[in-house]
Amino acid sequence: MGDSTQYISVNKHAWNHKTSIHTNSDFYDLPSFKNGKNSLNEIELELLGDIEGKSILHLQCHFGQDTMSLSRLGAKVTGVDFSEDAISYAERLANELGLDTRFVLSDVYDLKNQLAGQFDIVFTSYGVIGWLPDLDKWAEIIQHFLKPGGSFILVEFHPVIWVFDNDFEKVEYSYFKDDPIVETEQGSYADRDNASEFTTITWNHALSEVFTSLTQQGLSIQQFREYDYSPYNCLNNMFESTPGKFIINTFGNKIPMVYALKVGKPK
Ligand SMILES: C[S@@+](CC[C@H](N)C(=O)[O-])C[C@H]1O[C@@H](n2cnc3c(N)ncnc32)[C@H](O)[C@@H]1O
Repeated sequence: MGDSTQYISVNKHAWNHKTSIHTNSDFYDLPSFKNGKNSLNEIELELLGDIEGKSILHLQCHFGQDTMSLSRLGAKVTGVDFSEDAISYAERLANELGLDTRFVLSDVYDLKNQLAGQFDIVFTSYGVIGWLPDLDKWAEIIQHFLKPGGSFILVEFHPVIWVFDNDFEKVEYSYFKDDPIVETEQGSYADRDNASEFTTITWNHALSEVFTSLTQQGLSIQQFREYDYSPYNCLNNMFESTPGKFIINTFGNKIPMVYALKVGKPK
């Protein structure tokens, strides 16, 4: 990668286009969401606990279903994403549903220039850190936006699954952070038959990198869990082992698919 910010324009292009694919997909099931369905999963709901009246900053919120689901549970929520299409769709949807969810258009790394204040909870989930090259910078932003005594909650796909090729047939990538992974993918996890093609630039982040970046900011680990399933059918060669739990055909329950982490900022 020549220019170190080139990844932003490449990925933003992909996410702007994916937004319209996603809002029309069965995967995101907007009709049910509009009818009141909460899009959050058991994994994050358990870590979030009672959020009534809490202020939440939701990073990389996409077109805002989870953000608005947090609002529906009584929190005062601000969602952030760098995709213009995702944020404008989210704003229209919140307006249509009469929710007071606030959305901010910003690159995660530029957020201090776009947003003021501190929050009880910073939340981000499923398919987020791989888009970010520098987790030390990311953790510094999280600690900046957390109130003293506040919590950061991350639910993410486990780095073990990103070492394999897309069909889970062989180990292809390093578990550890390496050169950026530049790929051209057809369709999207939410609509694999879609003919559109996107180039993406991503990074693998080992668990040690995630833990070190957060603890170096003075944040302390409160909970860490690993799950042998994904709540989403979003990868090749998955099957539903029990309702709502997806695993890789050939691996069964033998590998971790998702992890959840809660860290606290001292009072
Ligand atoms: C897989 S989605 C996460 C969404 C959430 N799990 C969902 O399903 O709605 C990743 C999101 O990260 C956003 N994103 C990627 N890089 C970003 C960056 N540097 N700053 C802000 N948002 C970014 C994309 O626009 C996209 O909406």
